[in-house]
Amino acid sequence: MFKQKNKAIENNGTRPGLVTISKPTAVVSEQFRTIRTNIQFSMVDKDLKTLVVTSAGPGSGKSLVSANLAATFASEEMRVLLVDADLRKPTVHRTFHVKNNDGLTSVLTDKTSELTDMIYRTYTEGLYILTSGAIPPNPAELLNSNRMKEITKEMEGLFDLIIFDTPPVLAVTDAQVMSSKVDGTLFVIPHGRATKDEVTKAKELLDMVGANVLGAIFNRVSAEDDKYSYYYANEE
Ligand SMILES: Nc1ncnc2c1ncn2[C@@H]1O[C@H](COP(=O)(O)OP(=O)(O)OP(=O)(O)O)[C@@H](O)[C@H]1O
Ligand SMILES: [Mg+2]
Repeated sequence: MFKQKNKAIENNGTRPGLVTISKPTAVVSEQFRTIRTNIQFSMVDKDLKTLVVTSAGPGSGKSLVSANLAATFASEEMRVLLVDADLRKPTVHRTFHVKNNDGLTSVLTDKTSELTDMIYRTYTEGLYILTSGAIPPNPAELLNSNRMKEITKEMEGLFDLIIFDTPPVLAVTDAQVMSSKVDGTLFVIPHGRATKDEVTKAKELLDMVGANVLGAIFNRVSAEDDKYSYYYANEE
């Protein structure tokens, strides 16, 4: 049903960004498991099937966090789909070393494209990816379309958890659009890089559209300046 593992994806385990796959015993992988546990607590008694990962500004680690989080949740019992909904600067195809000739935008714009034909199965048990496809001129409009709603419903039927990587909130409306449609939003804050004003403004924009912000993941946090570090904090 899904695109077969292609040759390129065999590099999967050696990708430096996918530390949770290549180094499951590393401290950072343990931190991702802690984040997973915290999110699972938020899921209790709630329907939390679709998650957006976003941030205030660019280059904060959204793509790394969403990919590693997806890998951390994926298992034999939990089928997880990582969707590249950053239709402006897509990276999922690069992270997983696959082609991006088609993907989300194909299903959104071409009625003959089937979602199931666009999804890659990775070598990680339970982990599937949907790349962005061709970069469109109107990303926000596409993400806000009825077709996107239908596709998301279809994804929910096929997977236990769907994680959307998105562009930064302060730059464009895409993440606001997506956050208003999903069950929960995770906010990545690059420690020492994002200003309080930026984070406050981004949170206001998310609140404005009724986003369910589950919490923040502090990226690049460390006592000893350990470069790979993540820390999850709940809003309350
Ligand atoms: N904790 C970290 N330690 C070291 N490098 C990191 C860390 N988090 C992110 N990076 C690096 O910072 C860069 C930006 O990360 P990433 O692409 O995940 O950010 P992003 O928020 O998705 O960016 P964009 O806004 O462009 O989509 C990448 O080169 C990534 O490898
Ligand atoms: Mg990104």
